[in-house]
Amino acid sequence: MRKIFLTLTLLASLASCSYAKVIEKLPAPNKTGGMPLHEAVTLRHSEREFSDVELTLQELSDLLYVTAGVNRDNGLRVHPVGKGIQDMTVYVFKKDGIYKFDAPNHSIELIIEGDHRQDTGTPTYIGRAAVNLVYVQDLKAWASETKPQNEIERWGFAHTGAIMQNAYLFAASKGWNAVVRGSFDDGKIRRLLDLNEKQKITLVQSIGPRP
Ligand SMILES: Cc1cc2nc3c(=O)[nH]c(=O)nc-3n(C[C@H](O)[C@H](O)[C@H](O)COP(=O)(O)O)c2cc1C
Repeated sequence: MRKIFLTLTLLASLASCSYAKVIEKLPAPNKTGGMPLHEAVTLRHSEREFSDVELTLQELSDLLYVTAGVNRDNGLRVHPVGKGIQDMTVYVFKKDGIYKFDAPNHSIELIIEGDHRQDTGTPTYIGRAAVNLVYVQDLKAWASETKPQNEIERWGFAHTGAIMQNAYLFAASKGWNAVVRGSFDDGKIRRLLDLNEKQKITLVQSIGPRP
């Protein structure tokens, strides 16, 4: 009996270890300052050259806040969201691992350790971009609505457009380069993120300091 109890305890602790989440709280984002909007809009463009320089945690915090952070007490975001249905998740592929951005808690959760930036597609510059942001729409967020899937996916693309433009403007304001990519390795990213059939990758964006 004691042996069975010990075995069960060991199995339970092993299970809890393998599912232990590694969550990193990001420093509070800067909500003032930065480049004037008109200057950032004027500088925004796509550029495909990156230096393999990692972002500081503060830079990552600011980038994620400006891209898809929560800017109001009611949980709404810096980008507009149809019906307030939060169907978008931003995944961050950086040198040390893949992380999921938790906007309400302004934290990142480690999904997989290791450098998987090059796994997001074929151009070699993506392996040097400080971050490759992967935008994922979760159709399950729309479970209470009766809209057809193609309409829901349209809303997801609209959300993605607003998100990626925010990231472009932030990159421009920092003097970094950025490019969005509609061509990406859907299968490889899906496997790495363990996405289900209701989760759709809408776009990937490479961002980081210039060479
Ligand atoms: C929806 C979308 C998908 C894109 N996909 C790619 C892509 O797969 N590869 C790439 O190099 N650029 C891609 N781009 C970047 C465009 O080529 C780029 O925005 C265009 O050349 C205009 O340049 P600009 O961003 O400097 O105005 C994409 C842009 C958009 C809006």
